[in-house]
Amino acid sequence: MLLSRPLCRSAAFVRPLRSISIKTLRRNASTEVAEFKGTKNADGKYTVTMIEGDGIGVEISAAVKDIYAAAKVPIIWEAVDVTPILKDGKTAIPDVAIDSVKRNLVALKGPLATPIGKGHVSLNLTLRRTFNLFANLRPCRSVVGYKTPYDNVDTVLIRENTEGEYSGIEHVVVDGVVQSIKLITRPACERVIRYAFQHARATGKPKVLVVHKATIMKMSDGLFLSTAKEIAKEYPEIELGAELLDNTCLKIVTDPEPYKPVVMVMPNLYGDILSDMCSGLIGGLGLTPSGNMGDEVSIFEAVHGSAPDIAGKGLANPTALLLSSVMMLRHMKLNDYADKIENAVLTTIASGPENITRDLKGTAGTKHFTEQIIRRL
Ligand SMILES: NC(=O)c1ccc[n+]([C@@H]2O[C@H](COP(=O)([O-])OP(=O)(O)OC[C@H]3O[C@@H](n4cnc5c(N)ncnc54)[C@H](O)[C@@H]3O)[C@@H](O)[C@H]2O)c1
Repeated sequence: MLLSRPLCRSAAFVRPLRSISIKTLRRNASTEVAEFKGTKNADGKYTVTMIEGDGIGVEISAAVKDIYAAAKVPIIWEAVDVTPILKDGKTAIPDVAIDSVKRNLVALKGPLATPIGKGHVSLNLTLRRTFNLFANLRPCRSVVGYKTPYDNVDTVLIRENTEGEYSGIEHVVVDGVVQSIKLITRPACERVIRYAFQHARATGKPKVLVVHKATIMKMSDGLFLSTAKEIAKEYPEIELGAELLDNTCLKIVTDPEPYKPVVMVMPNLYGDILSDMCSGLIGGLGLTPSGNMGDEVSIFEAVHGSAPDIAGKGLANPTALLLSSVMMLRHMKLNDYADKIENAVLTTIASGPENITRDLKGTAGTKHFTEQIIRRL
């Protein structure tokens, strides 16, 4: 009885959001999702938006630019500043930056510091919402030369990036009682699951694994799971599996080997947590690339933060941003350049502590590490 009035209010609050979301998502739904549709300029090069970001962002972006110039990658960087502006009382990305990403259809992004305090929406969340980046792709592969308890990690995780527990629908029911709504829509499920199957097909992985808690979240995760069963019919050569989140965590940290032939796909919060866990298996966020995939544009980013403690000191490790840029090159079908740069990064890391940065237990600074990569191109 106590809850009836606020619940009615919450239902009224949710209805318009759901209808907007489904309409928007339906409009964007297509069988081929998140494909790069950019074209070369007259000079044979692609223009790519570069969001250098805050803190060490400037240093690691400079390393990427130097390596790309040395590798003669046919890319022109268009640097934009995404320092937020307030538009109608809400945090927004400046129009110049939005126009650049929309024009180029692809961006590489350094870390953005989130100011702590009331009223600041995370810029990373704002970017995902602005460009409808519906899938977060996070591959984690063991890096030779950086020893962790595992040397056989090769996981690929795809996280639904726009809804679920991160829909931001929260309210106080009565003092001391709050409610948070996990929003799951069929179009968003379809899109991210279809992307997972496409990715499995493109990378030769024979299985898509839905990670869920449909035993508890019967309706929301149940919808995610049942949608996966429908979409799987379009990809008969790829096996569909399903596993409970807790079980997946237990099994991956026990032995990551069985996850090598698998593309995992899951709702937002589970993906947020499990992707960081997988990063931990290979040595942390400094080695982990990621891609935020959308139907129109995609933004590739290092998942670590702006590292204010070492900013400006020449100590930053550019590996995560470089490997994110390698994912970007593959998305743009510039595979030869991707292979060349990835190989140079990995062989440099394997070459010994004198050539790698301190976060990887080495002694080098950003400049020396970058020079060593260029030598190995
Ligand atoms: N994707 C993003 O843009 C993103 C992600 C996480 C945090 N942040 C923001 O970054 C700021 C700092 O966050 P934090 O301190 O919690 O996390 P952080 O990732 O910036 O730093 C954590 C630790 O890791 C080290 N580190 C991180 N990246 C490194 C690199 N490339 N090379 C060497 N060392 C590296 C740092 O020196 C620090 O000791 C915050 O404002 C936060 O909101 C942004």
